[in-house]
Amino acid sequence: MKHIATLLLTGFVWFGCQNQPKSVSEDPSLIREKPIPATTVSEPVTLPSNGEGNFESLVADFESKDRGIWQKPELVISYLGDLKNKTVADIGAGTGYFTFRLVPKAKKVIGIDIDPRFINFLDSVKVRLPEVYQNRFESRLAKYDDPLLQPEEADKVVIVNTYAYIENRVQYLRTLHKGMAPEGELLIIDFKKNNLPIGPPDEFKVSSTQVEQELKAAGFVVSKVDKEVLDYQYIILAEKRAEK
Ligand SMILES: C[S@@+](CC[C@H](N)C(=O)[O-])C[C@H]1O[C@@H](n2cnc3c(N)ncnc32)[C@H](O)[C@@H]1O
Repeated sequence: MKHIATLLLTGFVWFGCQNQPKSVSEDPSLIREKPIPATTVSEPVTLPSNGEGNFESLVADFESKDRGIWQKPELVISYLGDLKNKTVADIGAGTGYFTFRLVPKAKKVIGIDIDPRFINFLDSVKVRLPEVYQNRFESRLAKYDDPLLQPEEADKVVIVNTYAYIENRVQYLRTLHKGMAPEGELLIIDFKKNNLPIGPPDEFKVSSTQVEQELKAAGFVVSKVDKEVLDYQYIILAEKRAEK
């Protein structure tokens, strides 16, 4: 939790999880019997306010209007190729910025997060979707050290703006490796260490070189590193190669 503590000490609030969320057993109010009802498609969902950080401001950050300009989500998703028959896991799904852009393209999308507030949020968005898309989406409350994928469950995995929050990353990646199909692909996107006008402070970030080293240590094969296409972020694609 040292990174999170650093963020708290600096009073920095950006892109989430600055507080370790309470577990559901500590605070049963985190569970909603039913997803938050939809109002209109464009209206923001009423969010639970449970004192754990300012959830509304996290949501506003994740879904900020300027994000499309620097995040280029459709371009990013195209790195995953044809998803028609693929199961995609979005680890650290947050508000589902990528999750719900993936749903129309994939066979199934699993939105994974460790914060029950985001799981509630994802479920509240799900009920607004056409039924065909609702059936393709599943939210999953995971553990800090385990995305809780079934063996070989995911063909593709995305981790966007979340990698730095994961501790013991090599061990985490080894666990993730087991949850990926043979020849599955992992896409990691995060902020360059470049004193940027947006994103967390540089000391919180993980460099692309470090991500590459950690992926290799966990048994992945790095197939692409792109530091050009996004102004603020690097894109890393890694493969789980089938055992020979
Ligand atoms: C900065 S947000 C990014 C959300 C989303 N990927 C996006 O780009 O909008 C980080 C998210 O990762 C989640 N998270 C943090 N640590 C995690 C972990 N170990 N496993 C899964 N999710 C985690 C947080 O709860 C939060 O929703």
